[in-house]
Amino acid sequence: MHTVSVNELRPGMITADHVVSRYGQLIVEKNRILSYQMIAHIRYYGITKVAITDGEPPSEAIEHFETEQNAVLSYNEKIKKSPQFLYFKKEYDQKVDFLQDSLNDLIVRNIPCDMDHLLEQTLCLFQQNSTTISMFDMLHNMRRINDSTYAHSLNVAIIGRMIGMWTGLDKKDLDVLTLGGLLHDIGKCMIANEIINKPGALTDAEYAEIKKHPRYGYEIVKDLSIDPRVKKIVLNHHERCDGTGYPIGLYGDDIDDFSDIISIADVYDAMTADRCYRSGMCPFEVIATFEKEGLEKYKPQYILTFLEHIANTYINNDVLLSNGQTGKIVLINKQHLTRPVIQMSDDKFINLETQPDLYVQAII
Ligand SMILES: [Fe+2]
Ligand SMILES: [Fe+2]
Repeated sequence: MHTVSVNELRPGMITADHVVSRYGQLIVEKNRILSYQMIAHIRYYGITKVAITDGEPPSEAIEHFETEQNAVLSYNEKIKKSPQFLYFKKEYDQKVDFLQDSLNDLIVRNIPCDMDHLLEQTLCLFQQNSTTISMFDMLHNMRRINDSTYAHSLNVAIIGRMIGMWTGLDKKDLDVLTLGGLLHDIGKCMIANEIINKPGALTDAEYAEIKKHPRYGYEIVKDLSIDPRVKKIVLNHHERCDGTGYPIGLYGDDIDDFSDIISIADVYDAMTADRCYRSGMCPFEVIATFEKEGLEKYKPQYILTFLEHIANTYINNDVLLSNGQTGKIVLINKQHLTRPVIQMSDDKFINLETQPDLYVQAII
């Protein structure tokens, strides 16, 4: 056992002891595999140090983790077997192939892309998708099947367009955002595949090379006859409002709005894809992770709208709570998105805002 500061906590670490607030509330039980949400929870209570187990996880930790995994798995299995998803998957795969061919033609053979056609292809996915299964759930499940840069780009285009719709942009602006999403990582084509697809951690030199992709991308698109805002997205989608981004390290309003929207979509998609070891990422964990990484990295009007919509997507969904009970989300708390009101199986209501020791562990 060893003690680590809250800043060093990582998902996957195992608690060696109960984590208790200074008022004696139990925050995380002993022998739990930590998730981002648990870490956010520990931080919320101002706890500074946590005892962590060394070596293999004890059987109790694995059992608890598996209960959560099975619940999430069955939810995703349900989605993957639905006719709606199977149809979406077929269409989605075609769009990814088309994007790959178009970008390769442009870069390798210098054949200009038909941007309007590229855009139309992406828009088809919206028309065919009704609201019965959320687009996020579709994308999560696709992400586990296809995680190429092209699939990522298609996802970012779709999510970016959704953020644009939620913030009330008109069709022309939405099309700019969508094209920006499709092209945002085009510079990665100039980086060696061994670096792009490297499974382990990158060396400093490799990371420095990856960080060049916005500039490489800008070089590719700068003379194309496309909206200049698309070119800015390619260059600026890794800039962050607090100045921690690249390639320039721009601050706040020096970053254009569309790059900010695409950066949110980009981080969201990378976040959900990062979790290959899991069968999906609970949307409330996504929100907790954005909160943990710092909301000040993005423009408030976009990040708050985005997170609120993610939370709202799951109203009426069944959930597993951290105490093992199940219920249904009936109301989202706008001030505290990770703490909705839950209707339990016995028809009682739990407002998570007033039950700080509980949280939503998984959508089931
Ligand atoms: Fe990128
Ligand atoms: Fe990206």
